[in-house]
Amino acid sequence: MAKRIRKAVIPTAGLGTRFLPVTRSVPKALLPVLQKPLIHYAIEEAAAAGIEEVIVVVNPGSESIAGYFDPQPELERMLKLRGRAAELEQQIAITKIARVHAVPQHEARGLGDAVLMAQDYVKDEAFAVLLPDDVIWAQRPAIGQLIDVWDRHGGSVVAAKEVPDEAVEKLGIIAGKLVSGPVWNVTGLVEKPKLADAPSHMAIIGRYILSPAVFDYLKEGRRGAGGEIQLTDAIASRLNIEPVHACVFEGAHVDAGTPQGMLAAAIFQARKQPGYFETARAMVEAAETGTAVRTGA
Ligand code: UTP
Repeated sequence: MAKRIRKAVIPTAGLGTRFLPVTRSVPKALLPVLQKPLIHYAIEEAAAAGIEEVIVVVNPGSESIAGYFDPQPELERMLKLRGRAAELEQQIAITKIARVHAVPQHEARGLGDAVLMAQDYVKDEAFAVLLPDDVIWAQRPAIGQLIDVWDRHGGSVVAAKEVPDEAVEKLGIIAGKLVSGPVWNVTGLVEKPKLADAPSHMAIIGRYILSPAVFDYLKEGRRGAGGEIQLTDAIASRLNIEPVHACVFEGAHVDAGTPQGMLAAAIFQARKQPGYFETARAMVEAAETGTAVRTGA
């Protein structure tokens, strides 16, 4: 049988400091873009690309993140009793998206270390990684676009997007050249370079297909940029050994890892849900001018 990507790792164990104080008790992955938390968008995207099993890496004590996908018998009973069939169906569908496991990362030692925590579930298969902060709306799920590239080339594949000067020093940046269509052959990867040293403006966005060989590097526990164990360094360790490609994915992307980004994601999503944006704008205007307005309900 042809090899396929069956498992995804979703790291959520970072400290979420840019969202303090809410992240004191609510993990960032449970913060919502309108009605759905970030983790739900990520798992939906993975499932739409054929992924069956998801390993969520959590802070110890934040296992409730995986519990979000558990059945809610009392809620389901009430919806049934009240004849709210469509909503009941939606709620049951959430429990069937994928098999979801939680694994703890005891100390936030970096994204690379978080991915290593999933090794016992991933074993020796190539696997997907999705960072829930990066919300991507696309016809073909972004992670599915990466899987298409992996099907052709194997090795590892990262999602990429051209970014402006001010973003370069905050992201992983790739060196390489365009092979065909949206695909780059990667020859170098550097995490958070100085703008002057950056090999390009092509940044890694939080979607990856990884060769299980990255675990060998991660197990060494080497610290990179910012003193953290960097996933970018683990992928870079595979260069010249296995193919590494970047896929300039199609789709609308918002980094919701900051309060402003989260608001932007909510506005983008509101424009897709009929009436939401107009109602919200009318409510803001009414609040500013002190006039009466109907609520969104
Ligand atoms: P970020 O760089 O956004 O860090 O991590 P953060 O800690 O969540 O947020 P800030 O920077 O303090 O505001 C990118 C992804 O990697 C996960 C995060 O949960 C997020 O999904 N991560 C990061 C881990 O799971 N463990 C880590 O040690 C670091």
